[in-house]
Amino acid sequence: MAADIVGERIEQLRRRYGAGLMILGHFYQRDSVIKHADRVGDSLELARAAADSSALRIVLCGVRFMAESACILAGPERSVYMPDAGAGCPMAAMADPDQVERAWRDLGGDAAGFLPVVYVNSSAAVKALCGRWGGSTCTSSNARRVFEWVFSQGRRVFFLPDEHLGINTAEDMGLRRSETAVYDPRREGGGLARADLDRARVVVWKGFCVVHMAFTADLVMAVRRAHPEAKIIVHPETPSDVVRLCDAHGSTSQIVRYVEEAPDGSLIVVGTEQHLVERLAEKWRGRKTVKALAGSVCANMARTTPEALLALLERWPESLRVTVDPGAAADARLALNRMLALAK
Ligand code: 13P
Ligand code: SF4
Repeated sequence: MAADIVGERIEQLRRRYGAGLMILGHFYQRDSVIKHADRVGDSLELARAAADSSALRIVLCGVRFMAESACILAGPERSVYMPDAGAGCPMAAMADPDQVERAWRDLGGDAAGFLPVVYVNSSAAVKALCGRWGGSTCTSSNARRVFEWVFSQGRRVFFLPDEHLGINTAEDMGLRRSETAVYDPRREGGGLARADLDRARVVVWKGFCVVHMAFTADLVMAVRRAHPEAKIIVHPETPSDVVRLCDAHGSTSQIVRYVEEAPDGSLIVVGTEQHLVERLAEKWRGRKTVKALAGSVCANMARTTPEALLALLERWPESLRVTVDPGAAADARLALNRMLALAK
């Protein structure tokens, strides 16, 4: 079917379902999907939109952890669907619940003064552990706020699954490297020496996002040499040695705002997923120049196509419905709600 016919058909169905349907789109989605979304945002904004929505059907154009969070927050009377049920997040898959339970024991858990802070890029089962252990989820836009909440209770942070967001947040708060430690789930005891663990105020899980690992110090230095006037901003899933060479770092919404607030005539080089960078470049063409630090696509985000969205809206197959075990959902909701209350 031609692209304009697919788009027109999606719009007809949106009109037919009216307020009973809410389509949420993450910034990394392709434009041909985003144009059909009722709300576009970062992962925090999408979670909030799902929690506040009264629509009976929510369609999440993003990846599975976002749809699971929407499902947990929207409650059992609303149904959440994904146009492509196979769109996962490889980083979320790097923390398996059994490994996380083992790590909690290795670290000494609550008795050793830890509280878990779980990045929303994680499975519902891992969020449930976090809720049960008294912790909070976070996104890249409020990780610092959640770390402050832990420190205000005189506790230490066990952060997972992204090493880089954890280290960047600790460094933003002025912690020294010796106050952080990396837990490697593939190694006995996380590969941590007793002395390093005792000193650590923040222990981070050794996980990463392949999309943001593409942004290197060499690329930043090359931009600095070629365009000394450029401002460079990256997402905090980028390793901290690269982040420290840049002018700014922030969540996808914060990147959108950074570009918006830059003066006309500026050159802004952005290190995040390519669909967002291309959209920003297009939006500001003629006023500001937006370039990608490197072309880096999230293959999972890209699985959602207009054709898949149309097929979902036409048939609502049960295979595309996202469900979370009710027990896990109740515990995970505790962790998500703590974040939403902190990030008000
Ligand atoms: P944001 O929370 O910044 O939208 O990031 C989500 C994500 O998956 C980044 O890779
Ligand atoms: Fe996961 Fe990275 Fe894709 Fe974000 S960009 S959804 S962290 S793989």
